[in-house]
Amino acid sequence: MSLPNAAPSTAELAAQFPADFTWGVATSSFQIEGAATEDGKGESIWDRFCRVPGAIADASNGDVACDHVHRLESDLDLIASLGVNTYRFSTAWPRVQPLGHGAWNEKGLAFYDRLVDGLLARGIQPWLTLNHWDLPQALQDQGGWLNRDTAARFVDYAVGMQRRLGDRVASICTHNEPWVIAVLGHELGVFAPGQKSRAAAIQVSHHLLLAHGMALQALRAEGATAKLGIVLNLSPTYPASNKPEDIAQARIDDGRSLRWFVDPLLRGEYPVDILEHLGADAPQVQPGDLAQIAQPLDWLGINNYSRHMAQASGPFDVKTGGLPLTEMGWEIYPQGLTDLLVRLHTDYSLPPTYITENGGAFPDPVTDGQVHDPDRTHYLQTHMAAVAQAMRQGVPMAGYMVWSLMDNFEWSSGYAKRFGIVHVDYATQQRTLKDSAHWYRGLLAAWRANQGA
Ligand code: FCB
Repeated sequence: MSLPNAAPSTAELAAQFPADFTWGVATSSFQIEGAATEDGKGESIWDRFCRVPGAIADASNGDVACDHVHRLESDLDLIASLGVNTYRFSTAWPRVQPLGHGAWNEKGLAFYDRLVDGLLARGIQPWLTLNHWDLPQALQDQGGWLNRDTAARFVDYAVGMQRRLGDRVASICTHNEPWVIAVLGHELGVFAPGQKSRAAAIQVSHHLLLAHGMALQALRAEGATAKLGIVLNLSPTYPASNKPEDIAQARIDDGRSLRWFVDPLLRGEYPVDILEHLGADAPQVQPGDLAQIAQPLDWLGINNYSRHMAQASGPFDVKTGGLPLTEMGWEIYPQGLTDLLVRLHTDYSLPPTYITENGGAFPDPVTDGQVHDPDRTHYLQTHMAAVAQAMRQGVPMAGYMVWSLMDNFEWSSGYAKRFGIVHVDYATQQRTLKDSAHWYRGLLAAWRANQGA
């Protein structure tokens, strides 16, 4: 694989980030926890979706995953060994409130108590995400995110977690990647709950945004001290050619993936051109919804992996793009991350902004107990440099978190695609730091040394 971008040295990179920068690793509940039916946990839509024949590439599921629930203490030690100051995780709603409303599950809550306390004991800030996709199946049975009432259920869940953990977490995120829930889950049907309707996807996206705004308001009314925000998956969109139809397509693709979410959150309005484009599929919006959605954000999280090439004639063939690809078939283009951040800063008034996920899947053979993953290290180096470049251009960047701490259940790709900086042997659950983890640890040590700490 050819690697076009020169990677900065560790010393060069470390010198580009300020003393108060947030450095983390990220995971999510369904992808690592396992213990799918233990201690009173309810069924989630991903538990159910994994049972659909053909839904998951390797016909796997999250029943065991990384067995994190049973390995909490050693996984916390693993996180601490990297030298990060932040850990981004999610709570599984059906683990703490099995039916998505009503009774709470004390054993599930106690697990997250131990997680949060264990992080604090190790000097690591807990960053909690409430919704990383594993909606209680019982709520799906009532229509899931297509049902406006789910937003009210989400507020109760958010407030419950605030009352239990709010005194100890540094940050609370409402949703991870609402576009994915809406489009992959309800329009393309390749993620849970597997529906295929554009109108449904658009209405779901509206209910997710509404639930976000309602939750932020409720959390503030509860006196939350954690910083409150939301995580969007955003890519820079470029037209595949100078043809007018590709330029028009780029405006639509950018509108549906980026402006559709950022405009209501930061401006309190949906983009007019996209409302027109959607026609009869435009969402039902009640009076006051948009003001509700546009609550002040303490921070914005961006998950970025690649760029998007817009082409009117159909999906862009990445093989013609001339860029190296990850194992997911995603183009590696660090300049795109700078372009994205600078564009957001130019077009909107950004709150402190974090890269809440960035990383890559690469083939990771274990040789003599070691995992040499130079492609991943290079990916991380060049994307961190892209963030530093955006900071120099004035973008209010406050942190960067690697996806992921360890290999895990990669949704419809199952366990075949490995994003971790720590290798997981699923037969033995043994964790092995890949070279990229050793490199990240070295970067963080160099950065800390620069602060004289
Ligand atoms: C993001 C998800 C995360 C992980 C990465 C590769 O869309 O938030 O859970 O699967 O992609």
